[in-house]
Amino acid sequence: MYRRVLIIGANGLVGQKLTEIFSADRSFDLLIAARQSEAYNKAASFGYVQLDASHLASVKELVWNFSPEVIINAAAYTDVDGCEREKELSWKANVTAVENLVTASRLVGARVVHISTDYVFDGKAGPYDETATPNPLSYYGKEKLASENAVRASGENWAIVRTMVVYGVATKVKKNFAIWLAQELKKGNQVNIVCDQFGNTTLADDLARGIYELVRQNKRGLYHIAGSDILSRFEFARKLADEFGFDKSLIRPIRTAELNQLAVRPLQSGLITLKAQAELGITFLSSDESLKKFKKQFLESAWA
Ligand SMILES: NC(=O)c1ccc[n+]([C@@H]2O[C@H](COP(=O)([O-])OP(=O)(O)OC[C@H]3O[C@@H](n4cnc5c(N)ncnc54)[C@H](OP(=O)(O)O)[C@@H]3O)[C@@H](O)[C@H]2O)c1
Repeated sequence: MYRRVLIIGANGLVGQKLTEIFSADRSFDLLIAARQSEAYNKAASFGYVQLDASHLASVKELVWNFSPEVIINAAAYTDVDGCEREKELSWKANVTAVENLVTASRLVGARVVHISTDYVFDGKAGPYDETATPNPLSYYGKEKLASENAVRASGENWAIVRTMVVYGVATKVKKNFAIWLAQELKKGNQVNIVCDQFGNTTLADDLARGIYELVRQNKRGLYHIAGSDILSRFEFARKLADEFGFDKSLIRPIRTAELNQLAVRPLQSGLITLKAQAELGITFLSSDESLKKFKKQFLESAWA
């Protein structure tokens, strides 16, 4: 059976990993879309379309013409502090675009698979399962919760995947935590890492594998997909240093409050992933397993 899948935001970190895994399975007809003039990963069988998902007419035209069974939304404005400064702009990407995808999906009866975040929680009593009540602290978290609600309001034919602290290597993506850390430690620079933010860390490839299984197995509803263990960012940094053989004494623990960031972060966060692991029949990677893969990706990349 051939199934048509459309990936929105295909040039982002998760978008590129999704493109990689879906294009390797020839039972999917894959079309990918992003804002840039070209695809960074050119493997999609049905090619690439330039699209700003906040433009309703363009989204409707694309969805009507391709008539996908599944639309995966990996597009978002992901700069959490930027969302506090640029509320209107970030709302367009994080909420309006999702409403547009939901509207367009109705034209052809497509399922929307949307990616959300642990930032919908306040981080007072994590880790959280899918039944926990959201209470976002930041504007980004509020936008992502609004986007979840837009998807849920569309009826029954949807899936939402919450994830957290996603990292990995892909073409021309924003520098994520692990890339930054590896670069700094490689140069021998001291780094201050928060020791009071707890949660899962997630290799983007592993998240893409989870979403791929969810689509392949026709799942609907809310799922938490993230790395299998929960640790502080400071512990993660020390593990990364161990994996690469960097000097761990360069890593200094600090408290989140010392950073004076615009957006308030959930501290005691984390996502319980048992539902996804049980229903999809897969296990997610631990931070140690993910860091091994990340090291290989990083050393083979232009970031090294
Ligand atoms: N990274 C994390 O730690 C993390 C954690 C939890 C959840 N998530 C969620 O995971 C998803 C994927 O994130 P990511 O890490 O892959 O982020 P990313 O690398 O920043 O990719 C997001 C992509 O969305 C694109 N985009 C923004 N506005 C758009 C619009 N109006 N139309 C079309 N494309 C647009 C961006 O393109 P431009 O380059 O043109 O802006 C970018 O390529 C997002 O929903 C995010 O909220 C991420």
